[in-house]
Amino acid sequence: MGIHFGVDYYPEHWPRERWETDARLMQEMGVQVVRMAEFSWFKMEPREGEFHFEWLEEAVALLGNYGIKTVLGTPTAAPPAWIIERNPEIQPIDRQGRRRHFGGRHHDCQSNAAYRAHIKRFVTAMSQRFADNPNVIGWQIDNELGNSHGDLCMCDSCKARFQKWLADKYQTVEALNDAWGTAFWSQGYNSFSQVSTPLITAVGENPSAMLDWKCFCSDLIVDFAKWQADIIRENCPKHFITHNYMCFDDKVNYYDLGELLDFVSNDIYPAGHWQKQPHQPEHELAASHDVIRSYKKKPFWMMEQQSGMAGWEIMGRALEPGQMSAWAMQSVAHGADAVVFFRWRTCAMGTEQYWHGILGHSGNPGRTYEEAKTLTHRFTKHMDVFEGSMPKPEVAIVHNFRQNYALRIQPNHPELWYVGQLYQYYKPFYDNKIPVDFVQDTDDLSQYKLVIAPLQYLMTPELEQHYTEYVANGGKLVLTMRTGVKDAANICMTDRELPGKLGDICGIEVPEYDCLLQTTGSVLYDGGTYEIRKWCDIIDLKGARAIAEYQTGFYKGTPAITENAYEKGTVWYVGTEPGEALMTDLMAYLIRQSGVQALGTADAGVEMMTREKDGRRWLFVINHTGEKQNYRLNGTYTLLEGEREGILNPYEVQLWEQAGKTE
Ligand code: GAL
Ligand code: ZN
Repeated sequence: MGIHFGVDYYPEHWPRERWETDARLMQEMGVQVVRMAEFSWFKMEPREGEFHFEWLEEAVALLGNYGIKTVLGTPTAAPPAWIIERNPEIQPIDRQGRRRHFGGRHHDCQSNAAYRAHIKRFVTAMSQRFADNPNVIGWQIDNELGNSHGDLCMCDSCKARFQKWLADKYQTVEALNDAWGTAFWSQGYNSFSQVSTPLITAVGENPSAMLDWKCFCSDLIVDFAKWQADIIRENCPKHFITHNYMCFDDKVNYYDLGELLDFVSNDIYPAGHWQKQPHQPEHELAASHDVIRSYKKKPFWMMEQQSGMAGWEIMGRALEPGQMSAWAMQSVAHGADAVVFFRWRTCAMGTEQYWHGILGHSGNPGRTYEEAKTLTHRFTKHMDVFEGSMPKPEVAIVHNFRQNYALRIQPNHPELWYVGQLYQYYKPFYDNKIPVDFVQDTDDLSQYKLVIAPLQYLMTPELEQHYTEYVANGGKLVLTMRTGVKDAANICMTDRELPGKLGDICGIEVPEYDCLLQTTGSVLYDGGTYEIRKWCDIIDLKGARAIAEYQTGFYKGTPAITENAYEKGTVWYVGTEPGEALMTDLMAYLIRQSGVQALGTADAGVEMMTREKDGRRWLFVINHTGEKQNYRLNGTYTLLEGEREGILNPYEVQLWEQAGKTE
C-alpha cells in the first residue's frame, strides 16, 4: 500500500481556516494518511436523516491535495443525544441494574434493535457517500470495541439474546443445567426464559454461567461489528476494513473479530496516565505487538500510537526526546506496516484536552513535531521495502481468551492474572533477543522449537491430544501450575489427579497444592536458592525428574519443577510461579536445551527484533533508554540506518539488513 505514517485528525475541533495549515504541516512531516470522523456522528447527522458529510468531504479533499489519504471511522461508539432522546433504552444497564447515561462515550447497548437500525441508516449513508472518493482508502469500524463494555449490558434486549445464545448452544435446558452444575445452591432452571444476564447477586456467582456470559459478550461484539462490516463491504468493495484493538484486552475474542477484517490495527499508550509506573515496561509492549501480529498472522497497523503526554483528569509523564520514535519503531519492528500517531493536535476541549499530540494546544510545530518528521524521513523508504514482512520466531507462547476468562472469574490467587503470566514467561526471551510468536492453543505448533503454554486451566480431550502429539514428534513443551483443572464448561475435572491426562507426558501427578496467600516461598534450583510466588503444586514423580525442589512449606524437599522425556520430545512442568531470577535462569536453561538462536547481545534496555520477506531479513536495534548503550549482533548484517555500529545514542533506532541471507 506504500502508506507508513499518519495521524489521527479531528478537523471538526478546529476552525476551517486552520485546516490548510494542518495539511501543509502534515505533508512536511511525512504524513501519508489520517484517520478521521470516528467520534463525529452529531456533526454528520445532527437530526435523523439529515446528513452533513460535506465538511468531511472538504477535509478529505483538502488533505488529498497534500497527498494524504483518509481512513474513515464509523462513529458508533458515541451515539448523539437526539438518538438517546428518541430511544433511551439504547443506554446500557450495568451489573447493579443501573442505567449508564449520555455524557461520555460508549453509552450504547450492542444488541438493541433500535440502535442497530440507527447504525444501519447512518453507516449505509456514510459508506455510500465515500465509496468512490479517490482519497478514502479504508474504514475503521467503531472504536476500541469492548472498551467500557466490560460488564455491560444487562438490559432486557441483551437478556433475550443471551437466552437465545444459550438455547442454540445447549438445545435443552437440562443440558444447560448439567453444564453449569446448577445442582449446587438450587440454581436449576425449568426453561431458558428463567436465565438472566448476570446482574449483581446477593453473594457469589456460578463460574460456568459466567464463562458462558463472557463468551456471549464476545460473540455479541463480533456480531455488532459484522453488522457494520457487511454494509461497508457491500458499498465500498475497493476499501479495506480494520478495527483498532487494545493489545491483550479481553472483552472480545480478537481472533474471532479478526475474521471480519482485512487486517488488524492496534492502539498503544506506553505512558498512559493510568499506569502505576512512569510507563509500561518495554517487554510488555513488545509482547502486545507480538500478540497483535498473531490475531491474523499478518502485519498490522498502529491506529493510535502515543505521541505525547497522556491525560484525562490527571496526566502521565512527558515523553523524553526520542522516546516516541523508539516506541513507534518498536511497533514497526514487531510487524506494523503503518504507524498513525494519536493525535495530530492536542484538543482544547472535552474529556481529552490533556491527551497531548504531535502539536500542542497552540498548534505550533515544536519538539515532538520535529522528532516525528525526522522519524518519517528516515524510515518511510525502508518501510516501503519491507512492507508485508514477518518475523520467523522459533519460540511460541500459547494465548487463549477462554483461559483468560476462566481465570478472571476465579483467579485462584488474588494476584494471578493470565496475561501477567504470559508477560513473565515472555520477558527472558525478550531480554535474550529471541523473537517470540503468540499462538492459539489449537494452532499448528510443529514449526516451533520451544512452546510455552502457561495456565492451561480449561482442558479438552482435543487439546490434550494436540500437546501430546507435538511432544511425541519431538516438540519441547512447558506446562505450568493450574493445568488441566477444569473442563470446557468450567467444571472441575474429577477422573484423574492433576494435570489430568497431560500427566502422562509430564511424567507427574499433582494430588495436592498450596496457595501462597500473602507470602512467598523458595526453591532450590541448580545449586541456588530462588524466590517463588503465588502457588505451589505438590508433585509426585511418575517418571519425570525434579529440576527444582521446594525449600519452604510442609512439602519442603519435594519437586517444584520437573523435566520429562516423552517419545521424541521433552516436557517441563513448572508447578509454581517463578520469581524473576528463577524465571531468567530457568528460561536460559530451556533456551540451551531447545537450541533456540538469539539475535545478539546488548546492554540493558536494548531491544532486537527481525522481519523477513522474500529471502531478506531486516533487524531492528532499539535503545529504550536515555543513555548510550552497546550491543553486538550474531551474524553478518549491513547497517541501513544508524550512526555508529554497535553503539546506540539515547533512544536511537538502528536498522540492519542481513548480508547474503538465503532461505
Ligand atoms: C483510546 C481511544 C481514543 C482516545 C485515546 C486517549 O483508547 O481509542 O479515542 O480516547 O484512547 O484517551
Ligand atoms: Zn443491552
